[in-house]
Formats: sequence, structure tokens, C-alpha cells
Amino acid sequence: MFKKLNKKKNQPNQSDFELDLHNIPEHVAIIMDGNGRWAKQRKLPRIKGHYQGTQTVKNITKVASDLGIKYLTLYAFSTENWSRPENEVNYIMSLPGTFLKTFLPELIENNVKVETIGFLEHLPNSTLNAIAKAKEDTKDNTGLKLIFAMNYGGRAEIVNSVKKIYDQLTAKGLSSDEITEQMIDEHLMTHAYPDPDLLIRTSGEQRISNFLIWQVSYSEFIFNEKLWPDFDKEELINCIKIYQSRQRRFGGL
Ligand code: IPE
Ligand code: IPE
Ligand code: MG
Repeated sequence: MFKKLNKKKNQPNQSDFELDLHNIPEHVAIIMDGNGRWAKQRKLPRIKGHYQGTQTVKNITKVASDLGIKYLTLYAFSTENWSRPENEVNYIMSLPGTFLKTFLPELIENNVKVETIGFLEHLPNSTLNAIAKAKEDTKDNTGLKLIFAMNYGGRAEIVNSVKKIYDQLTAKGLSSDEITEQMIDEHLMTHAYPDPDLLIRTSGEQRISNFLIWQVSYSEFIFNEKLWPDFDKEELINCIKIYQSRQRRFGGL
């Protein structure tokens, strides 16, 4: 079925294939990268790139919801991003407030449920309030789960999980022999979600940058060349077609 080759690159040309609506990845995770470079290309301040990136979030959420994706996890701010200049960090922290004001009615209309992973306790109150409102107003929605990773870091998440397990075991007088993969999994912030089927990183960078490092053990990785503000429906559909052309083996044959 996927035999047609693009002669130039000797690779299947994904746009030649139909999207298989019966094989849509259940959980798509995206490292939304390239906002700064998008702004730089236009000689704009970096924060303009972040603003434009939120427009892509709106667009891609709608497309994901229409395609029947069940979980969309978006890496919005990492535990390492605090090292950026203060004005940039402050601007990113203000985005949930400004962006959710206009986006929330659309999310409700599309039956989208907003959730988060990350160390939210370290966020400014105004950011927390905006996120809390979005969660509250969408809590009964049963469609796409839109999960924002805010102040998220995979290593810190695993350390936290292990600490919780340690406390539980010592309280019960049990030893580390009891620790299983399932226990670590259940104490992660993602415990309620299946592992991502597909991980997309935009902007051409090919690294994981501390995102869901435990959970992507068997995810399909796609590194897309577009800068996040330029990522659109066509690109997402192409990524899903590439995903559909792959064979997942999970260590088997
Ligand atoms: C991703 O875009 C958004 C965040 C990390 C918050 P960047 O801001 O990293 O954009 P580049 O990588 O500098 O282009
Ligand atoms: C990863 O992008 C974090 C987010 C997209 C939120 P970065 O731009 O921070 O990653 P590095 O620094 O290039 O690895
Ligand atoms: Mg970046």
C-alpha cells in the first residue's frame, strides 16, 4: 500500500496517500519549538513568536479534535526554560491568561477538556488562575484531552515518583524489592493517560529536551522542519500519515 516512492528522495511521498481514519494515534505529544526563530526571521522580538505560537495551538487543537485524537500533550514550558531572560519568561507566563480568554469558548464548543502536567506550584498566581478557570470550565467535557505541560521536566517527574514510592514503602516497612515499572508509572503526572503513540518536534531540532522521557519509550518520533508558528493542519496530517506508514514492534517481531 505504501509502495509509491518519491524518486528524488527515494522516500514514500506521504501526501500521495490517504489518511487512514481507523489508525489515528490515540495520544499525540508535541514539542512546540521554533517560536523564537520564527520571530527572528521577521526581525520581531521573540515574544511575538510566542504569541503566534498560541495561534497554532488553537488551530492544531481543533484539527486534532476533528481527527478524533484522544490526547494532545503540548510542551509549553520546561523546567529548564526559567533560565531565559526575565521578560520572555514573564510573557510566556502571561499567555494562558490572554490566550484562554478567547480560546475557552471554542474549547467548550469543541467538547475539549483542558488538563496539565508539570510543577504548577511554581507558576505565578495569575497564570495559575487562568489555568484553573480553563480546567474548571471544561471539566465535564468528554472529547479531546488537551494537556499543557507547564513547568514540566521528565527527570524531576521521575525523581518525584520514586520519592513517593519510597515514602509509601518505608511507611509500610517494605523494601525496594517491591518497586515495579508499573509503580513508577502510576506515580507520574501522566498516570491517567496512555503513553504517546506519536511524538512530534517542530523546528528541525532532533532532541527530546527532557519531555516525557519515561513515557516515549515506544512512541514514534517525527521531527518536522516547520517552525511551530508555521505548523498547520497539512503538516499534522502529513505527520500522521508518516506514523501510519511505520510498523510498531514493541520489541516483538
Ligand atoms: C518554543 O520555542 C517555545 C518555548 C520553549 C517556550 P522557542 O522559544 O524555544 O523557539 P526557538 O527554539 O528559540 O526558535
Ligand atoms: C523545549 O524547547 C521546551 C518547549 C518546547 C517548551 P527548548 O527550545 O527549550 O529546548 P532546547 O533548549 O532547544 O533543547
Ligand atoms: Mg527552542
